[in-house]
Amino acid sequence: MIEYEKKGFFNIHTLLNKDSANISNSDNNHVYSQLISGNCSSPMFSYLLNMNKQNLNDYKSIMFYNESNLASLINEAREMEELIDGSTVFLSKANKKIKMHFSKTLEQRHSTRSFVFENMDFSIFSNIMHFSFGISSRKLNFNDVQSTTRYYSSGGGLYPLNIDKVDAKSFFIGDNIDTQNMNFCVFFEYSINRNYVKYGELSLLNTFVELGGMSHNFDLVCHSMHYSTCPIAGFNKSSVEKFLFLDGINDHIVFTNICGKE
Ligand SMILES: Cc1cc2nc3c(=O)[nH]c(=O)nc-3n(C[C@H](O)[C@H](O)[C@H](O)COP(=O)(O)O)c2cc1C
Repeated sequence: MIEYEKKGFFNIHTLLNKDSANISNSDNNHVYSQLISGNCSSPMFSYLLNMNKQNLNDYKSIMFYNESNLASLINEAREMEELIDGSTVFLSKANKKIKMHFSKTLEQRHSTRSFVFENMDFSIFSNIMHFSFGISSRKLNFNDVQSTTRYYSSGGGLYPLNIDKVDAKSFFIGDNIDTQNMNFCVFFEYSINRNYVKYGELSLLNTFVELGGMSHNFDLVCHSMHYSTCPIAGFNKSSVEKFLFLDGINDHIVFTNICGKE
């Protein structure tokens, strides 16, 4: 594992022998040319090469899900998955409309890593959560099962990503994120069982696409309410998972985003 505080000692000519990917004097240019020539392997590259390859079992599962209307049934029963105890935070009813013009919201959106601390009204927090990730008022009817959808699209309507709210101090890599003054951050939690059973190896691609939609939705909603955000890939995956009691096997934190007043 790289000690990030020492990363200043590394440069493109540094030779490291401990990592098998660096047995020759490698940099990413070198690794890339070996990869393309087929001389070394990479999980990312083999995933791409095999993307959209479907096996008979994938077809069977996808057909089964579609024919049995399973996503609607799962969504209808989703409330029963909630564990409600003393630590549950109930959001206030989202009653404010987003007033900012859509084109202005698009103009406003940018990433911010430093904030000015200002208490966030709980109703604003609730509105942000509602319009970013919540259940929309649209109701669909699939074979007599009333189905709900959300403010972002989802592969097969299975919604494999959950949102976790955490008081974060040491979860980000480096010190360029102003965790002292931000209002909150969200962690995107992917549960493999939610969509692997239907999509097999296609699940990860679907999940990452969905994740991008969710995170961008969050960016736009926050900016439309005069708050700023920053999507962050550089976070300490295992320590966040440990903090949230996730197993890191079926349940993974795959991305984060932060929100605060600029
Ligand atoms: C997938 C993704 C990962 C990102 N990861 C980080 C990160 O780890 N740290 C960070 O400071 N910014 C991160 N960003 C923010 C980008 O640096 C930022 O979006 C980019 O510089 C463009 O600037 P803008 O968002 O203000 O238009 C990430 C953005 C995306 C979309």
